Amino acid sequence: MRRSPSFLRPRRAVMAVVSLALAGMAPAGAGEEGLAIQMARMQTYLHKLDLSVQAGNGKLTHFYMHELEETAEGIAESVGEYDGAPVGNMVKTLLIPAIEAAEASLEANPADREAVAGIITVCNECHVSTQHGEMRIVPATSNPFNQDFQPR
Ligand code: HEC
Repeated sequence: MRRSPSFLRPRRAVMAVVSLALAGMAPAGAGEEGLAIQMARMQTYLHKLDLSVQAGNGKLTHFYMHELEETAEGIAESVGEYDGAPVGNMVKTLLIPAIEAAEASLEANPADREAVAGIITVCNECHVSTQHGEMRIVPATSNPFNQDFQPR
């Protein structure tokens, strides 16, 4: 029987261990530990989206809409159950459709604050149904960012 050259063998063993470790880590690493951070990212994009809509800045609205949707898709793909709730699936079936509906409304009217309110409602409904009703998202009332949202 031919054996693989000796310089290949240790590398294979290391790769096997690394891939096993990654396979075991992926769900926890991408999901449970990261959920609050991914939520914070959605919060920031939603806040900036809201400020862009309030400024009637269609181009910036489009940008944050896209970032918000991408972050939501990341949660839908990487998070399964969280504290017993099917968080990934809820993001996929409740939040992403709400984001898409808002996107369509905002394309027709870039200053449509009701479209943003529709997203906020879903954020909060999900917080309540996942026993996190203490996270209450509200419309943006001020600009804490070192960023000008006015169109140019
Ligand atoms: C699938 C249900 C669900 C949806 C939809 C959802 N959240 Fe959450 N959210 C959670 C859960 C569960 C937690 C608690 C996470 C934890 O325990 O680490 C949370 C936590 C948070 C937090 C606390 C983290 C922090 O940095 O302060 C914020 C803020 C937040 N969500 C914002 C939002 C926003 C904004 C939206 C809508 C764009 C949204 N969430 C949509 C379930 C959801």
